[in-house]
This record gives sequence, structure tokens and C-alpha cells, in this order.
Amino acid sequence: MSKTVLTLQDIHHSYSMGKNHLKVLKGVNFTLDAGQWCAVYGASGSGKTTLLNIIGGLERPECGSVTICGKDISGLSRRQAAAFRANKIGFIFQSYHLLPELTTLENVAVAGAIAGKGFYEAKKRAADLLDRVGLKHRMNHLPKELSGGEQQRAAIARSLINDPALLLADEPTGNLDPHTGEEILKLFQQLRGENPELAILMITHNHDIAGLSSRVAELKEGILLV
Ligand SMILES: Nc1ncnc2c1ncn2[C@@H]1O[C@H](COP(=O)(O)OP(=O)(O)OP(=O)(O)O)[C@@H](O)[C@H]1O
Ligand SMILES: [Mg+2]
Repeated sequence: MSKTVLTLQDIHHSYSMGKNHLKVLKGVNFTLDAGQWCAVYGASGSGKTTLLNIIGGLERPECGSVTICGKDISGLSRRQAAAFRANKIGFIFQSYHLLPELTTLENVAVAGAIAGKGFYEAKKRAADLLDRVGLKHRMNHLPKELSGGEQQRAAIARSLINDPALLLADEPTGNLDPHTGEEILKLFQQLRGENPELAILMITHNHDIAGLSSRVAELKEGILLV
């Protein structure tokens, strides 16, 4: 039987701005197993990023539970959530979020060091991952010296440094031209082949991903339709 990596139970979330109360998530239920790649679609403003932030422990849901690898993360303190995230979850964003003053190698290695690896070990693993994503020749460059596609490759290497069980990606090809976007999707396919247990939840507007992913879901009117 496949291992469940992520379970969402009746997630609700809203934002208040003055008198306005915006209900974004209205009872999201979902499970994702090891090895599955699920593409999540939804109109702009439908709550995709909100949902990803809740899954990653960056935001607490108003109610409902998030279980990752058997652990309910909804009740964790900020510090506990950060430690859990560093070890179990890899994050990839549309705008890469690399630290501008660090080299590519350091950007990847720091994520390993934060999760408790020694810096020497983290650097060794970072170099190996950067080689795997095709950036061996760019390790000592700063992010501003890399193209968008290269920065996203570095961010993908960073997301994998702690062997996460779950990869959360928020429109990872959103800032890239179609060809570079395709290359990044090929890289995801390659990494999936190398890590068959990895579960991937990827928010996207790119319908090519539906053909590559193993599942598709749509966030609509506060509910995740699978
Ligand atoms: N911190 C916040 N405070 C108030 N409202 C917020 C906050 N974050 C998000 N929202 C609102 O919640 C709704 C959902 O936002 P969210 O960013 O999750 O949408 P999205 O589906 O990711 O959109 P996009 O495709 O444009 O990235 C939007 O109407 C947004 O304005
Ligand atoms: Mg978003």
C-alpha cells in the first residue's frame, strides 16, 4: 500500500481587512501519497498560495488539520513548525527567493546547515545537487549573475538538500519563458525518477504540467476538487 505523505482535513481560512471578511478556504480535504505529483490549478485569488503556506506551516489555518508524514502540524509553535519544515518539506517559489549576497553553492548549503547538517557536509551535498540540476559551472556565482531558469534550478537544488518527503512548488515556471519553463518541468520529471518516494504539490497555470503530473486538482470556491 502506498504511504500517505499529506492529509488535509476540513481546512478553513479567511482574512479580515477592516470590515471585510474574506473566506478563502471553505473546507479543503485532500490526501497525497508518496511518489504522487499533483498539479493544482485555480483562478488568481482562489487561495492557492494561502493553501500552500498553510501546508508548509507558514500560516496557521483558522480550523482543520494538516498531517505530514503522520504528524499533525496544526498545533506546532512557530519554532517547532520551522524545524519540521526544514527537515520534511522543500519549498519552491515563482520568484526563486535566493539570498542575493550568497553564492549559488552557499544558498543551497545554508538550507542544509539550518536543518542541522554540518556546513562541510551541507556544502558537499549542495555541490552534488547543483551538479544534478546542471549548475556545476555556476556554483560560485551570485544569484544576480544567473538567468531566471538557472536561479530556479538553484532553488530546486536547495529544496532537495534535506531529502524532503514533500515538495511544495508555487508556480515554479511562472516567471520563465515557455522554453525555459519546459526545461524546468523536465528537471522535475528527472528528479522524480531519481526520488520515486517524493510527493510533489505544484501550483501552476501551465496546462502542460497536467500531462506530466500523476494527478490534477482545482481550487474553486474555497474547495479543492480532485
Ligand atoms: N495576508 C493577507 N491579508 C489579506 N488578504 C489576503 C492575504 N493573503 C491573501 N489574501 C487574499 O486572499 C485571496 C487568496 O489569495 P492567494 O494569494 O492565496 O491567491 P492565489 O490563488 O495564490 O492567487 P494567484 O494565482 O494570483 O497567485 C486573495 O483575494 C488575496 O487578496
Ligand atoms: Mg499565488
